[in-house]
Amino acid sequence: MTGSFHTPPGTRSGNADDAGIDAGGRGAGGDTSSWEKAADGRLVHPDTGMLVPDYADAPVLEVSQLQKHFPIKAGMIFQKQVGAVKAVDGVSLKLWQGETLGVVGESGCGKSTLGRSILQLHRPTGGSVKFAGTELTTMSDNQLRPIRREIQMVFQDPYASLNPRMTVGNIIAEPLVIHKLGDKDQRLARVRELLDTVGLNPAFTNRYPHEFSGGQRQRIGIARALALQPRVIIADEPVSALDVSIQAQVLNLLDDLQQTFNLSYIFIAHDLAVVKHTSDRIAVMYLGKLVELADSELLYANPQHPYTQALLSSIPVADPEVARRKDRIVLQGDLPSPQDPPSGCPFHTRCWKAQQICSQQMPPLETVADKHEVACWFPGPEGAPGTITPAKIVQQVKAERAARKAAEQAGAQQQPGSSGTDGGPGRAGPFTPGP
Ligand SMILES: Nc1ncnc2c1ncn2[C@@H]1O[C@H](COP(=O)(O)OP(=O)(O)OP(=O)(O)O)[C@@H](O)[C@H]1O
Ligand code: SF4
Ligand SMILES: [Mg+2]
Repeated sequence: MTGSFHTPPGTRSGNADDAGIDAGGRGAGGDTSSWEKAADGRLVHPDTGMLVPDYADAPVLEVSQLQKHFPIKAGMIFQKQVGAVKAVDGVSLKLWQGETLGVVGESGCGKSTLGRSILQLHRPTGGSVKFAGTELTTMSDNQLRPIRREIQMVFQDPYASLNPRMTVGNIIAEPLVIHKLGDKDQRLARVRELLDTVGLNPAFTNRYPHEFSGGQRQRIGIARALALQPRVIIADEPVSALDVSIQAQVLNLLDDLQQTFNLSYIFIAHDLAVVKHTSDRIAVMYLGKLVELADSELLYANPQHPYTQALLSSIPVADPEVARRKDRIVLQGDLPSPQDPPSGCPFHTRCWKAQQICSQQMPPLETVADKHEVACWFPGPEGAPGTITPAKIVQQVKAERAARKAAEQAGAQQQPGSSGTDGGPGRAGPFTPGP
């Protein structure tokens, strides 16, 4: 994960932006050849000391052309397949050890199905998933059992995902029991250790889920996911059911755990505001397909796909000056059905740039810059007609502030008494009422 909410200012290599939009990303994207390598294979960021993924290594997870089509059946007695919901339709991505890959897109675009298909909870209808070089899609459930220790999931809803009739101790110990690890005492010791790791009181093992708040329940879900010491965690909207203040705590916890245990995350969210704080790279999904995949700094600074630009334009920003000028790109029409997706580029029914080829041929995901891939026939940074992209507004606001500051300094030097004889440098000039 990138600079967390509690990362000291200035440690994020993407330069926390003083105009209110921070770039995100921890910047292992440039030349890292001189960076020190830690014992676990990650690189040590020279400015922050954070451990970051080494993209020169082999990825821990490699997904190629993954498909999950749910059959639609009809008929009273003999059910026949009459169609399919193309929930995931040809997704390719890689995940490196110690990396966080954010996956964003509108509700129903296939994010959860992608996560479940990677984990083989849904068996894919096509494509390949390799974990540490081993193909998972052809394995039987028995063969998958040891792999399941390595890839775990944290679920969206901490209220629905914990069995209300089980104690927290039994919930966290369940994966250990399933995998026949340790005896009863060893398991209890491990549960206590895990509760402590996620910031909960180790004495809570006999309590039930309803005795905990939403944030605490999500910590329990995270403890359960950690029980088997996985290498990869697929976090399916892990904070969207939580209050904003609690969200930051859970995100910080995930960040700390990643640094400590060298975890790789696929972090699913439905808006870019959450993933921008957490991800090294971001994949944008639309109707079962990836439309843009980039280093998170690049994605915020230079989005190339019209859909990404629309998503970015809807992120709230803290800086009032930027917020006032920001244009929101309002997409026309609803998300089409994955049962009957549009021909060619699936976004063409809502795209302001669409031309004839867009409705005829699906654009491939192509590299437009280092660590930046886009699936669009006409990629570019320009945004919708009449709108200015958030990154451009930030640039403008910064330039204007710098110009104002320079003008103020020049004005101050011309004020009588500012030459340093009877007023020290930096002393304020005479009070002038504002406009
Ligand atoms: N088991 C299933 N059987 C049939 N269709 C399904 C099944 N699971 C999901 N779908 C369909 O697949 C599509 C993608 O669903 P999915 O849950 O992956 O979307 P999502 O991006 O996670 O949405 P959300 O942000 O609301 O969680 C939807 O149209 C959904 O109705
Ligand atoms: S391929 Fe065409 S329709 Fe699709 S996003 Fe690009 S310009 Fe728009
Ligand atoms: Mg979902």
